[in-house]
Amino acid sequence: MNRFYLTTPIYYVNSTPHIGHAYTTIAADIIVRQHEQRGDDTFFLTGTDEHASKVYRVAEERGLDPKVFVDQIVEENWRPLAGRVGAEPDFFIRTTDEEHKRFVQDFIERLRENGHIYEGTYSGLYCVGHETFISEADLVDGKCPEHGTVPEYIEEQNWFFRLSDFQQQLLELYDERPDFVLPRFRYNEARSLIEAGLEDFSLSRQGQPWGVPIPWDPEQVTWVWVDALINYLSALTYARPGEDLRDVYWPEVRHLLGKDILRLHCVIWPALLLGAGYSVPKQIFVHGYLLLDDRKISKTLGNVIDPLDLTSVYGIDAVRFWAARSVSFGQDGTVSIESLHERYERELANDLGNLLSRTTAMLARYRDGRVPEGQNRLEPETLDAVSATVLERIDVFDITGALEAIWEVVRTLNKFVTDEKPWELAKDEANAAKLDDVLYTLVDGLRAVAVALAAYLPETSPRILEALGQPEDLAWENVAAGKTVPADGIEASAPLFPRIEAPATAA
Ligand code: MSP
Repeated sequence: MNRFYLTTPIYYVNSTPHIGHAYTTIAADIIVRQHEQRGDDTFFLTGTDEHASKVYRVAEERGLDPKVFVDQIVEENWRPLAGRVGAEPDFFIRTTDEEHKRFVQDFIERLRENGHIYEGTYSGLYCVGHETFISEADLVDGKCPEHGTVPEYIEEQNWFFRLSDFQQQLLELYDERPDFVLPRFRYNEARSLIEAGLEDFSLSRQGQPWGVPIPWDPEQVTWVWVDALINYLSALTYARPGEDLRDVYWPEVRHLLGKDILRLHCVIWPALLLGAGYSVPKQIFVHGYLLLDDRKISKTLGNVIDPLDLTSVYGIDAVRFWAARSVSFGQDGTVSIESLHERYERELANDLGNLLSRTTAMLARYRDGRVPEGQNRLEPETLDAVSATVLERIDVFDITGALEAIWEVVRTLNKFVTDEKPWELAKDEANAAKLDDVLYTLVDGLRAVAVALAAYLPETSPRILEALGQPEDLAWENVAAGKTVPADGIEASAPLFPRIEAPATAA
């Protein structure tokens, strides 16, 4: 059985989730669900990155003990995020879990035993927004261009990781595995970072009481990024009590993340793994940013959209659909509530919702609610081709391309109704056999579309199947012609996507 382990980044918990975070989680969930439909053995991990200095500072500002603060914000806002966008992770890791902290310490100990750690002095600039050191050359007017904040000057005694030793090994890895990082332009970007030369980095921080202590020097804590990256591995050791899932899912792991954290995942993480004696991940997919008025949606910039505000109006499926469809996955793209509303009306309510309403209404009216026997009159290869395209697209994480291929069938079915005019056929009993075929084609096509859409629309797909009297069997082989089973008692269905008032445009 094919194994498919997918991760989202673990999220910083200094503030509450916005649509940019929901975006990565939704995309990951779509991909995992599609792999489940193929029959793969899947594991889906998400969670929270809690030892950041920005988290500690927010807790301090509120006069709270950091652990009290993170417990509260994680349980109220972050753990529920997945469910609020219809995602079903297998495990939710928190970096404050004791099991994770112990694992981090063992991991670093292994790096030291393998000779990759030495003591040194770090002096330079640190951007708290990024939680990374930042070079003078990257600043614009003395500020971090992404966060608009002045970095802090730091000079401290630290433990360093010999990243520079890994340049050759990483270049060989990239040469051997041209699909290690996707899309291709991100592979090139990562490879040039490695080619440009790698500097050792400090993997500890001094004088900060919040974090995982360095095992041999408890005055220092582990740099939050090292602590965080290790989650992808540590989670497997305690996600299922009594089992070590590393034997099952490592290194069958794929990481999904935004472009801001490419270097950490594509350069530093594989080097840390090699240093500690682990295999590197199977694949890394780097997606772009959702932009609002051409700026990244981010807490620091203050232009956030709360995913809850959207799902409470449009429903979970519409938000998932919009996230997958409105920006080609991998690229940056501008989003707006207006664009969500427009797609909701035009594509979900009209193209898909009306097609189901018309089909069920015609079954009720012309065939007493029975799905007639008949022939699927779409080109025989139409559905097979879509099935193959979706698999191919999802294999390269192209959730947008896969969805477009499915939507093409929705459009074809709509055109089929307009061309065949079943309401005309119904006027003359002599056309009964033809009308049977037309109605069968619509049911069969919609059924296959519902299965194909299940990863995107997990609430709606079962409703479509139910309305057509079809079993809720989401196995991928059902995306094919002729799998419709006899059914009766079909009634004209209620709208899948009821009308919603247009959003008030901001003045
Ligand atoms: N804690 C680190 C990740 C550690 S993983 C070992 C982190 N957290 S984050 O909360 O700042 O961001 C998490 C993810 O959300 C990143 O993949 C980031 O790219 C994504 N997004 C945050 N805002 C986004 C947009 N506006 N658009 C798309 N994704 C963005 O980084």
